[in-house]
Amino acid sequence: MTSRRFSFALAAFLFVLTQLSAAQDFKKQVIYQIVTDRFFDGSTANDNPSQSAGLFDSTQTNWYAYWGGDLAGIQQKMAYIKGMGVTAIWISPTVDNENLNMNSGTPISAPYHGYDARDFMKVEEHFGDSSNSWTAFTNLVNAAHSNGIKVIVDWANNHSNYNASGEYGALYNNGTFMASDSNDPNGYFHHNPNISDYNDRYQLQYYTLDGLEDLNQENSTIDSYLKTAIHQFQSHGADAFRLDAIKHVTWGWEYSLANSVFNQSPSFLYGEWYNNNQYDPLYRDAYKFANKSGISELDFGLNTAVRDVFAGNNNFSEIDGAISAENLNFTWNNDLVTFFDSHDESRLLTLNNNNNRLHEATAFLLTSRGIPVILYGDEQYLHNDTNSGNDPYNRVWMSSFNTSTTAYQLIDKLATLRQSNDALAYGGFQQRWLNSDVYIYERQFFNDVVLVAINKNDSTGYAISGLYTALPAGTYTDYLSGLLGGFGLTVTAGSGGNNPANNFTLPAHTVAVWQSVATATSPEVGSIGPTVGQPGMTVTIAGKGFGAATGSVLLGSTAAAIQSWSDTSVTFTVPSVANGIYQAQLKNNAGTAANTIQFTVLTAQLIPVTFTVNNATPTSSGDYIFLTGSSIELGNWGTTFDTAVGPMLDPNYPNWFLNASLPAGATVQFKFIKIAANGTVTWENGSNHQYTVPTTGTGFVTVSWQY
Ligand code: NOJ
Ligand code: NOJ
Repeated sequence: MTSRRFSFALAAFLFVLTQLSAAQDFKKQVIYQIVTDRFFDGSTANDNPSQSAGLFDSTQTNWYAYWGGDLAGIQQKMAYIKGMGVTAIWISPTVDNENLNMNSGTPISAPYHGYDARDFMKVEEHFGDSSNSWTAFTNLVNAAHSNGIKVIVDWANNHSNYNASGEYGALYNNGTFMASDSNDPNGYFHHNPNISDYNDRYQLQYYTLDGLEDLNQENSTIDSYLKTAIHQFQSHGADAFRLDAIKHVTWGWEYSLANSVFNQSPSFLYGEWYNNNQYDPLYRDAYKFANKSGISELDFGLNTAVRDVFAGNNNFSEIDGAISAENLNFTWNNDLVTFFDSHDESRLLTLNNNNNRLHEATAFLLTSRGIPVILYGDEQYLHNDTNSGNDPYNRVWMSSFNTSTTAYQLIDKLATLRQSNDALAYGGFQQRWLNSDVYIYERQFFNDVVLVAINKNDSTGYAISGLYTALPAGTYTDYLSGLLGGFGLTVTAGSGGNNPANNFTLPAHTVAVWQSVATATSPEVGSIGPTVGQPGMTVTIAGKGFGAATGSVLLGSTAAAIQSWSDTSVTFTVPSVANGIYQAQLKNNAGTAANTIQFTVLTAQLIPVTFTVNNATPTSSGDYIFLTGSSIELGNWGTTFDTAVGPMLDPNYPNWFLNASLPAGATVQFKFIKIAANGTVTWENGSNHQYTVPTTGTGFVTVSWQY
């Protein structure tokens, strides 16, 4: 190899290394969601594998059958994916799925979507090969990584598979049978009825979701099985996970799942908590979970608003209100994962067959707050409107890979802007001008600014006056070069970050993007990931202007050991400091401090423990029992909804229980409190309870309320 080729190879290698080491900062990513079975058939050898023969429909007319898409197919389309500027792919659950027809008869119903696992230790034969080996997955990961693209695996560990036909929930450990719905001597499943009340916290976590055999994560065998399985995907190169149905998995246990993932290697986790919008009765539970567990969430609140506004004709104020509410409640709101289409909803073009609206919604998504997801095929204007385009008709076959569509070009431009202007990944969100059809908003991260103007009206232009911006005085061209009708803007000097823009008319269905990037003169912090972890865990702080020379990261007054330092990304080891909530402080080599960012230091790695308190009376409707205690995992004796652990569950009233994740090996003090409907707090009497958490497995502790 010539030295030039060598240095090129080295540079490419270092580039990939940098990309990978930043896995914990996902804010710069643009995610492309692929329903693996419906994307591209890269290998016909796995279309109809012998162990699950007959689930494939080569005619692609039965929407509930496998259609041939696979991991090799995604790999073969890597240039297409990369050319769109996206930097991460979210693929269907990849574990070995149910092998039998789930509809006892015809038409066939197959787990082509991946949400009916049978063996979490293996790769599905329709997606890989008939030995359920890792080969195809490894090949895909390598191809993605060498193109600077991260791989996000959909991870559905609430359940195994359908309990009333096919394999009846049967679960295997690397080929060895563990249990099924009717043969479960060790209690690996919950065996409760289907969830009927989606506002009942107990039913949500312990009942059955749509007939899907519900895993008992508090069983130590299942606990270690699921954690070992997800670690296997990590060791095979999965960079991140989309956690399916997190509202239905035991909430406390999920904290320990996240912790075990982060202990294994850098990652990013976001979960499906449907519906975490501000009007949901369990909204407080939804954001409490995101703020404490280390698991971010798919942003259903914004999803609803964007669909209402761009597909329906609702006013832009609906989007504006959704973002404001969420930004108040979600501590790391820039980590929310935003989307308007998904494999579970009819596509935007089904709701409103208007490509302009699709472009406008796409431009909005890629420039507004959060990490955007593009559903495969939106860039090709795919939709099938059978049955209003609902599941499975939204899981359209990817019939074209045209790189010249406006949508494909638009995604590429804005994904590129996300890399070059940190306002999109790390910035705040501010509305600058609003009426029912026009939304002008600004993203700002220190002196990096992106100003976006959208008029969604299909025929009416609007005169815009009185627009202010943080863009410095000067003239700006449309970053989209007129792709969606945009034009230049002139800004004159004002004061207090409010510089007047010239008046203009924003024509019908127009999007304009104006932006400015400044050189950082001091360190600017935009991200921390993970957001929780114990001493010894690896954490990444990202932003800009950190300088080339190593500086420091402080938790309280304790400096962390620095693992790597660059101008934009610093990796450190959580130092041995007392557990609690910190404002992590980065300083450059000269000692100049950046803005701080919140990080929670746990006491030790987490073990799931189920607490039961018997006979906690009296309580009346709206009162709840909570758990509180002596470490951050127990809320440090907090007595509010947000700080204490709970609400506890009372299917056996007046006994209450709850699973929580506690520090391995630690001896903790705890008590139970009643938080009444009116907020009044009543402590149980007596001295504190004490418990020593096991160092492995799962724990159980039962006490009686002390009168
Ligand atoms: C939500 C997924 O997104 C959906 O497609 C799936 O069927 C259910 N969870 C059950 O896993
Ligand atoms: C105050 C409570 O009143 C008491 O009951 C509890 O034991 C302590 N907090 C925790 O030490």
